Amino acid sequence: MKVFVVGAGGREHTLVWKIAQSTRVSEVYCAPGNPGMRNIARSVNIAVDDIKALADFAESYNIDLTVVGPEAPLVAGIVDEFERRGLKIFGPSKAAAQIEGSKVFSKNLMKKYNIPTAEYRVFENPEAAIDYISSINPPLVVKAEGLAAGKGVIIARDRYEAEAAVKSIMVDRAFGEAGNRVVIEEFLQGPEVTVLAFCDGKIAVPTVSSRDHKRVYDDNKGPNTGGMGAVSPAPAYGADLAKIVEETIIQRTVDAMAKEGIPLKGILYTGLMLTKDGPKVLEYNCRFGDPEAQVVIPRLKTDLIDIMLAVIEGELTDIKVEWKKEPAVCVVMASGGYPGHYETGKVITGIDAAEKTGAIVFHAGTAERDGKIVTAGGRVLGVTALGEDVESARRSAYNAVLKIHFDGMHYRKDIGK
Ligand code: AMP
Ligand code: GLY
Repeated sequence: MKVFVVGAGGREHTLVWKIAQSTRVSEVYCAPGNPGMRNIARSVNIAVDDIKALADFAESYNIDLTVVGPEAPLVAGIVDEFERRGLKIFGPSKAAAQIEGSKVFSKNLMKKYNIPTAEYRVFENPEAAIDYISSINPPLVVKAEGLAAGKGVIIARDRYEAEAAVKSIMVDRAFGEAGNRVVIEEFLQGPEVTVLAFCDGKIAVPTVSSRDHKRVYDDNKGPNTGGMGAVSPAPAYGADLAKIVEETIIQRTVDAMAKEGIPLKGILYTGLMLTKDGPKVLEYNCRFGDPEAQVVIPRLKTDLIDIMLAVIEGELTDIKVEWKKEPAVCVVMASGGYPGHYETGKVITGIDAAEKTGAIVFHAGTAERDGKIVTAGGRVLGVTALGEDVESARRSAYNAVLKIHFDGMHYRKDIGK
């Protein structure tokens, strides 16, 4: 089989890494890809949002299966276009991708189907939102309706921060069209857990759990980032809780989408807060998490291609999805200044030495220049290791991280602690 992966980050490197191990796969292509994949995939110079060019490529290269990493092309309808041309693709339709693309859609879905989540109100104009803010007690959470590259959620500690958030989203249009409406919701507290699930439109098969580390500094301090590391399984997420989440949240969500006439295929990413009143949904995404994929996929024993084809055919019940017992830890190495302004083009050394320790080095923001690997993004590398227990996975991941160097690099020291 020829498999085509769309995307360029650490998540996509992880997908390519796993897909290339399948005995069914002869060739892997990635658009646009990154230098970490060069020994296992051919890079195709097409942007992730150029849906027509991606479909043309899949047609002319007789691609058997396309796998989409990031949300933007899914929300823009890449799956519909591929299916219209009779091309096999793993991911949700444009209509189903609303579960990530519109927070108003997803909140209303949860309310209608009694899926536990924070209390909320939706506003179409800033004055009404600000009136509402003055009537309730902070803290509260202000969210832009649409995609905002992870920046559309503002935790407001007081009324003034909440008003500023509404103005930035709805008046200044910080996220463009994504700010047509805002969701204002109750502030929840507790540990966070990510649960991904394969969904074939009818049933959901959850993966092992994971936890992202969103803040830039140790002890969850500093601004939010795309994710500074991940651990799988998530601490504090035992079998009893997993059962509750599977029944009252994940399968209920898949059933709800089917009842709405827009069956969900591909991945359901559920971001949960484990509150004292039970698990509640913070957000849904319709694709693998980044960096959650970097700890979940390396623990998967089953051939990912078998699972993906079963998802597409609506036959997930026929597949046994098996996982390694060993926990995994992924440490993200970032450019100096990230998540604020950072420079690129810094030469990276020590990747080979890090890999010799047994760790896997997933590239996220790297490029090749004069035969050298250089930095090309905020999150540069994700270093993943498995171990007997979380502590030994942690030790192995950090041991590998110590072999790698680039000017200005920084990373959290407490991933999985
Ligand atoms: P998102 O961009 O939707 O992934 O949300 C980013 C982060 O905002 C989440 O991972 C949570 O840490 C936080 N968050 C979102 N909604 C709430 C909420 N209702 N209460 C507290 N924190 C939240
Ligand atoms: N790690 C958070 C996300 O992928 O949305």
